[in-house]
Amino acid sequence: MQRIGVVTAGGDAPGMNAAIRSIVRTAIFNGLEVAGVERGYAGLMEGQIHSLDIRSVSGIINRGGTILKTTRCEEMKTSQGIQKAAHALKAHKIDGLIVIGGDGSFRGASELYQASKVPVIGVPATIDNDVAGTDTTIGFDTAVNTALFTIDRIRDTATSHERVFVVEVMGRKRGFLALAVGFAEGAEFILVPEIKFNLGSIYEKLEHGRERGKTSEIIVMAEGAGNSSLIAEQMRKKTGYDVRLTILGHALRGGPPTAMSRILANQFGVYAVDLLLKGAEKNMIGIKGQQMVSVDLDDSWKRRKNLNKHLYRFAEILSA
Ligand code: F6P
Repeated sequence: MQRIGVVTAGGDAPGMNAAIRSIVRTAIFNGLEVAGVERGYAGLMEGQIHSLDIRSVSGIINRGGTILKTTRCEEMKTSQGIQKAAHALKAHKIDGLIVIGGDGSFRGASELYQASKVPVIGVPATIDNDVAGTDTTIGFDTAVNTALFTIDRIRDTATSHERVFVVEVMGRKRGFLALAVGFAEGAEFILVPEIKFNLGSIYEKLEHGRERGKTSEIIVMAEGAGNSSLIAEQMRKKTGYDVRLTILGHALRGGPPTAMSRILANQFGVYAVDLLLKGAEKNMIGIKGQQMVSVDLDDSWKRRKNLNKHLYRFAEILSA
């Protein structure tokens, strides 16, 4: 192996830059050349590829986003797109590819491996933390902390005005982000797609809380759990409380990565290059407890990661 490629694909996540830096520096340390692929799989197909050296990754460990840029590439879902990408790998003499992204990007990476037989390693990076085979992903901790920073401020104004706030966070169809944010925030309610909720009983609990002296509430809701503006509207009508909605949206995707996201990215980068050098062909790296692990790449997107329902129950107990 002489030259490896690195690409960021799908939604960006804080810490992707730290991972790029780690991959580039580890590869060069081991005598490899590194090709940076710009704009995700779309850039790969179009040959937007240039060499990365030690200095090209200076000063990025603390920056959100991705210096390589990223795209959501529909063409990568077609066999024609896969063939194009496989051809580009050969044309640019890339002997191994590291894909930094989420489960959708790993599905593409797996098909790319089948078509090209060029080894691929997935580095999980998404604020959603919905990738099986790893406890956590690059960017998740940052997104949780970014949400907390804002919701702490929302709580101040909620308390002053005696309001109920519904705060929507990203997460696509999963509730990992909402659950972590809600639990850490001490939210009164957490709404996630994985656990059925009943608005009627939420109204009752709100009422009961007010009777016991609560004067404001925070409801953290995953974007995949329903239509937040409808829910806030209905809640306002049914309860008579002053219910407001804040959608945190893409704000959660940016900003400097936290120490946790950087440390994870640094480790994942080293481990990904090591795996390629050891002859791995189609793996994703991850972390279980304190331990770096590697799994078959297909496990990361074919298997469904379970939400920690104990955490949900604890959150309910603690939100009394
Ligand atoms: O997968 C990351 C994520 O931020 C999801 O939480 C969200 O649903 C989606 O990407 C938004 O994607 P886009 O930025 O392409 O609209």
